[in-house]
Amino acid sequence: MSKVYNVAVLVGSLRKASINRKLAEALAQLAPPSLKLQIVEIGDLPLYNEDIDAGSPPAAYSAFRDQLKAADAVLFVTPEYNRSVPGALKNAIDVGSRPYGQSAFGSKPGAVLSASPGAIGGFGANHHLRQSLVFLDIPVLQQPEAYLGGAGNFFDDGGKLNDGIKGFLQKFIDAYAAWVEQHAKG
Ligand code: FNR
Repeated sequence: MSKVYNVAVLVGSLRKASINRKLAEALAQLAPPSLKLQIVEIGDLPLYNEDIDAGSPPAAYSAFRDQLKAADAVLFVTPEYNRSVPGALKNAIDVGSRPYGQSAFGSKPGAVLSASPGAIGGFGANHHLRQSLVFLDIPVLQQPEAYLGGAGNFFDDGGKLNDGIKGFLQKFIDAYAAWVEQHAKG
């Protein structure tokens, strides 16, 4: 049987009706059999503080790091807050990156999709996030770029995704599957 890669999905929005969360769920449905996507929750992580991480770290930090370590790849689906990465997602990245020298991100292949009701599709968040991913040594999928604007109209009242966006998501997740197969360790 061919390998199935486990993908940890970090969603940058904490709200229940999040468009980005719905897009992450849609990607999980559209993913080819070689990828298994699972959202790893970030909303309960205490703000990163080296003092509380020393010795015996909060259980939420350890559980989060374990989930990341168990994954083969990591996918980011995020809105843009004030032209940058939402604080909750940046906090999760900081938690996962420590203790120093023991980053849970390893060099797991990544991808970034940003979506916004605004016109520029979270481009600022997407690229600020990429800056952190360079330091974390995550090889990030380059194409197709995914800055999805006008996201307020992606889902109808019944929750159905429009066909144009669905087609793009399919292209994106297929390209990511090939990227993961190429770059995943072990
Ligand atoms: C926003 N929003 C926003 N949108 C954008 O395109 N660029 C931005 O810089 C910001 N800044 C921003 C800051 C804060 C604090 C909030 C709460 C919102 C709007 C944002 O794109 C919109 O609320 C999305 O619907 C959020 O994504 P989810 O929660 O639907 O996934």
